[in-house]
Amino acid sequence: MKRKMYNFSAGPSYISREIMKDICLGLDDSKRSGFSMMEISHRSNIFMEIVHELQGGLRNVLDIPENYEVLFFHGGARGMFSAIPLNLFQRNEIVDYLIGGYWSNYAYREGLKYCSARSVEIIKESRNDIVSLLPVKKWDLSNKSKYVHYCHNETVEGLRAHIEDIDDIPKDKVIIADFSSSILSEPIDISKFGIVYASFQKNMGIAGTTVVIIRSNLIEKPRHDSIPSILDFSVQLKNSSLYNTPSTFSWYVSTLIIRWIRKNGGVRKIEQMNRKKAELLYNTIDQSQLYINSIDMKYRSMMNVTFRTKSTKIDEKFVEFSEKSGLLFLRGHRETKGMRASIYNSMPYEGVKALVDFMKYFEHQYFFKDISFF
Ligand SMILES: Cc1ncc(COP(=O)(O)O)c(C=O)c1O
Repeated sequence: MKRKMYNFSAGPSYISREIMKDICLGLDDSKRSGFSMMEISHRSNIFMEIVHELQGGLRNVLDIPENYEVLFFHGGARGMFSAIPLNLFQRNEIVDYLIGGYWSNYAYREGLKYCSARSVEIIKESRNDIVSLLPVKKWDLSNKSKYVHYCHNETVEGLRAHIEDIDDIPKDKVIIADFSSSILSEPIDISKFGIVYASFQKNMGIAGTTVVIIRSNLIEKPRHDSIPSILDFSVQLKNSSLYNTPSTFSWYVSTLIIRWIRKNGGVRKIEQMNRKKAELLYNTIDQSQLYINSIDMKYRSMMNVTFRTKSTKIDEKFVEFSEKSGLLFLRGHRETKGMRASIYNSMPYEGVKALVDFMKYFEHQYFFKDISFF
């Protein structure tokens, strides 16, 4: 019997086999035109159908209000780290960047090139090393800033700031949010944000595209004249995101993913499944004597579950043996080390069950010092 393998990669990441079957159909004979989806012109009627389905489907599943535009770009979320300041911020504009981890820090560092970016620490570490979020009143927000940037789910650390956490930010500020590793995993009240953006390669599809959901009145003449046209929000809006040739295949894959979400009951239902998977994994960690997760329960990510043991040597063994057991890409990020299981929408409950079974087995072997195992 073929052994089941599960891919816990942080992105590009696992795609449900059900969706993969449809992707393969598109590889071969797209909509019975006799050509692969990869060979279809982005100006063709077939591709226009994809564009409409992608835009409409995303509007539907995320309940995007009428006064928001949905744009697609190349360049990943990192591209947006530059495009957003180039479009929106004056060079001397004070912008608050909330720092909750690796990715929000990168956004801030890029922002420094184009505006007067301020780093606002929102993390607190307690005496027993538990990482948590400071209450908003303790955030050092400037009374001169109009924009606040934050990352909803820190993929590297496995920390998620709840959408409600930003409710106490003064209402006159425009919130810009990186949802790269959490978009489509739970409902988002888009109206709370000026911009929600995300790379495709986790919950939205395959690498190659970034979605930007932006309140229409924020699209104006860019603040920086030197902005490349390809990053200019007004140019992309005028050209329906087809200013140059887009990553056509990645757009196509995302239409299939959105179909799959709708078929599975929409984002609210997907959120329930995600919660169940995350609970199973976190409960296993909390009940064990070997595994440690240092994120305050309230802020634990539903998408990226990080854990480690007391020693890097044991972590290494864990990764080595998990791979041999068909549980792939569990090595933690190079900065944080330890382990990380990315359990995006496509990861089935059985995949997480297989992981927790392995974790229990590994722990048992460790405590009973099975020489052949270590
Ligand atoms: C939260 C977050 N923001 C930004 C990025 C960078 O995305 P990209 O590689 O598409 O530029 C990542 C990548 O993993 C991410 O997880």
